[in-house]
Amino acid sequence: VRVLSVASECAPLIKTGGLADVVGALPAALAGLGATLRTMIPGYPQVAGQLNKPRTVAKIDNLFGGPARILSAEAAGLALLVVDAPHLFDREGGIYLDAAGHDWPDNPLRFAALSYAAAHVAVHGAGKWRPDVVHGHDWQAGLVLEYMHALGGDAKTPFIFTIHNVAFHGNAPGNMLEQLQLDPWRFNADHFEFWGQISALKAGLMGADKITTVSQTYAEELMTDTFGMGMEGVLRHRQADLTGIVNGIDTDVWNPATDPEIQSYKTPRGKAANKKKLQAAFGLEPAGGPLCVLISRLTSQKGIDLLIEALPALLDNDGQLALLGSGEPALEVALHKLAAAHPNVGVQIGYDEALSHRMMAGGDAILVPSRFEPCGLTQLYGLRYGTVPLVGLTGGLADTVINASPAALSSGAATGVQFFPVTAGALGNAFHRLSALYAAPKIWAQLQRNGMKQAVGWERSAVEYHALYAGLAASD
Ligand code: ADP
Ligand code: GLC
Repeated sequence: VRVLSVASECAPLIKTGGLADVVGALPAALAGLGATLRTMIPGYPQVAGQLNKPRTVAKIDNLFGGPARILSAEAAGLALLVVDAPHLFDREGGIYLDAAGHDWPDNPLRFAALSYAAAHVAVHGAGKWRPDVVHGHDWQAGLVLEYMHALGGDAKTPFIFTIHNVAFHGNAPGNMLEQLQLDPWRFNADHFEFWGQISALKAGLMGADKITTVSQTYAEELMTDTFGMGMEGVLRHRQADLTGIVNGIDTDVWNPATDPEIQSYKTPRGKAANKKKLQAAFGLEPAGGPLCVLISRLTSQKGIDLLIEALPALLDNDGQLALLGSGEPALEVALHKLAAAHPNVGVQIGYDEALSHRMMAGGDAILVPSRFEPCGLTQLYGLRYGTVPLVGLTGGLADTVINASPAALSSGAATGVQFFPVTAGALGNAFHRLSALYAAPKIWAQLQRNGMKQAVGWERSAVEYHALYAGLAASD
């Protein structure tokens, strides 16, 4: 099966969150099963500089305001198709946000262009290569089908659409129809109209042959008013074609036995040396309670405000917090204040991949107090590193952690601590439970070992994606 995977980010080339990790991991995960993925991403400056042997495989004279080329290239072991459109992608700043932290005003056009380029390859091919299936990720790839329809009439390549986060709709005002070259006859509730706006996310959801999301629990949650973010009706309508496939992690990059950023270890005892170093790096003295780490975008999704409110319950148990993140300015300020006020709290604002490895190795517990979490990756790193996850009971966090209930502890299944509802009060209680477990070294070590034994790689999920690809390719 030949698959064109389409996304706005792809690790290790360009990343703001877990979407990049997943898009970057899928090609290798599927290769052994006989699926060949080529990944299409925008030609941001960060990407353009890393391409080996780029070659033009298609030209588009006017892609929403300027000329564009589709480049075939290799980088970091990935087979890429890069949308080289300088008027849309060659600019300083973030990939979604300008220097002031606002969405680029032309984001609807920028990612419509990505979708258009993908449709171009589906219909006309890239050189001799033509995909059997197109796999779009999140709203940035939502309009692929609309452009396939425009370019190729009814001859359509099967399309699978993966929701990594339903909170982002990629809406554009209805009066941009013409500028976006969308078919006005399809500007209705059956296609991409959403409360008077053009919704790239809805376009993908309505048109896809199959929809996946990144955990089974999130697939269920998506159909509810609480979690659907307005798309619950659309998703209930598409229920028969919606499945959850849980994310894996790259177990070579995240391997405590070989990780070059840390003092490597094979058993939880090896964490002690890493913990000392981590405490020093965050200006923390040795303490009697658990050292909790958190690595995240700082947004309301991630429950950072709940953590700030519940933190006394951890500190009262002589616990500590080391936090790495960046995002909403108000949260960054609040966290700096917290660190200044408490000797047992250390905060680093920024994005630092190497530090995130050292935190995973040195932490006793990894916190993920998210209000919603489609999958979540840091709790999976935690399992692999013997760093006990403390997580809200939602989305992929519900599916990948086994709560240390008395029954799960005695049967040897428990891998972490879950709390529900996702409130500051319940998180405070969870800090007390975590501290009690930490104070019982044998039980704690058992939790760590159980976690380290979990299968957190791509093996199982790759088989599920392959089955979907193969099924769609065969039905074409
Ligand atoms: P999301 O995609 O919603 O941000 P995930 O848990 O799926 O959440 O993925 C986040 C990814 O980004 C993980 O690989 C995590 O380690 C990484 N990450 C987030 N913030 C930082 C940071 N400040 N420094 C380094 N890595 C980070
Ligand atoms: C999104 C979600 C996160 C998920 C990631 C990769 O960013 O917020 O939960 O792990 O996508 O699928």
